[in-house]
Amino acid sequence: MSYKLFIPGPIAVSEKTLCAMTQPMIGHRSADFVALYQAIQPDLQALVYTRDPVYLSTSSAFGAMEGALRNLVKKKVLCCMNGAFADKWHDVALRCGKQATALKCDWGQPVDPAAVRKELATGAYDAITLIHNETSCGCMSDLPAIMAMVREFPEVVSIVDTVSSFSALAIKKDELGIDVFITGSQKALALPPGLSLISASKKALARAATIADRGYYFDFLEFHKNHEGGMTTSTPVISLIYALKSKLEDIKAEGVEARYARHARLNKQVRDWALAKGFKLFPKEGCGSVTLNCFANTRNVDLVALNNVLKTKHGLVIDGGYGKLKGKTFRISNMGDETDATIVALVQALNAALTEMSRSA
Ligand SMILES: Cc1ncc(COP(=O)(O)O)c(C=O)c1O
Repeated sequence: MSYKLFIPGPIAVSEKTLCAMTQPMIGHRSADFVALYQAIQPDLQALVYTRDPVYLSTSSAFGAMEGALRNLVKKKVLCCMNGAFADKWHDVALRCGKQATALKCDWGQPVDPAAVRKELATGAYDAITLIHNETSCGCMSDLPAIMAMVREFPEVVSIVDTVSSFSALAIKKDELGIDVFITGSQKALALPPGLSLISASKKALARAATIADRGYYFDFLEFHKNHEGGMTTSTPVISLIYALKSKLEDIKAEGVEARYARHARLNKQVRDWALAKGFKLFPKEGCGSVTLNCFANTRNVDLVALNNVLKTKHGLVIDGGYGKLKGKTFRISNMGDETDATIVALVQALNAALTEMSRSA
């Protein structure tokens, strides 16, 4: 049975994107590949707001996130944590044998810029990890405010995960002083999973050059060397790169400002619906994500049953809560190619499913 995903990634992929992926294979050391790689660089750099290259990594985002730790942490990394993906990133740092401090706040609370500053001021750190948009609890931290603190510490390399916010709002890498910008394909870009993007500053590459155990697959210096020839370190997921090119064309055609406005508008439509139904936003007021809504299940709805009705009768799926929030929250994505019409249809389906469930209760 086919159904449409409104979970916060992977999300629905358009026919146009799927079609783009069916183009014939080309050799990854061929002139055709170099042309493809080089053709998308300017558009990627524009979307990342950077003059640095944007490397293509054939991996999900966690590959790039682990790679960043291996490339950049010599002394100790400060891991800002307010949700499941940040918790995991800290765990990954420890698994890589890195010294890492957990700067914890409750899930749903944004990362506190003052706490970041206080901890970095100890002088113990040479890197910081930060997730802009914690998908697990739908909380978006104030990146400009945090980066203003981080910039006070030039010895610290900043590694920022924009996995579930990239391309839904402006995140100005160079202006903010982000050293390593990481994102993935299956969120707001609305591509299938398997490709991640990494943009590293000169400072990050200089740090990497001083670190011995960078490995190979995620070695930033290998990414850079190959980038200069319009290639990737090893055989990339060429079908997804075709899809990325197609998506960049879509984004250009829509215009980024219109794209950002669309995400904000659709996000609010879903939020207004849920609040009117008596649910509450889970993250702190004013810190809700722009690409998804995470609602507290204040009506104690049976979320498994709700999703079952949605899937079997309405052909769509939402998320019933991540990790320790399973059953206590639900998440609805508005990222990617959603439109006013698809959100109206979603809301109608949610209303119908809730009514059906209350009738049969
Ligand atoms: C904010 C964030 N970071 C990292 C990840 C991990 O991405 P992946 O599973 O694609 O490696 C996710 C996945 O949902 C995420 O939402």
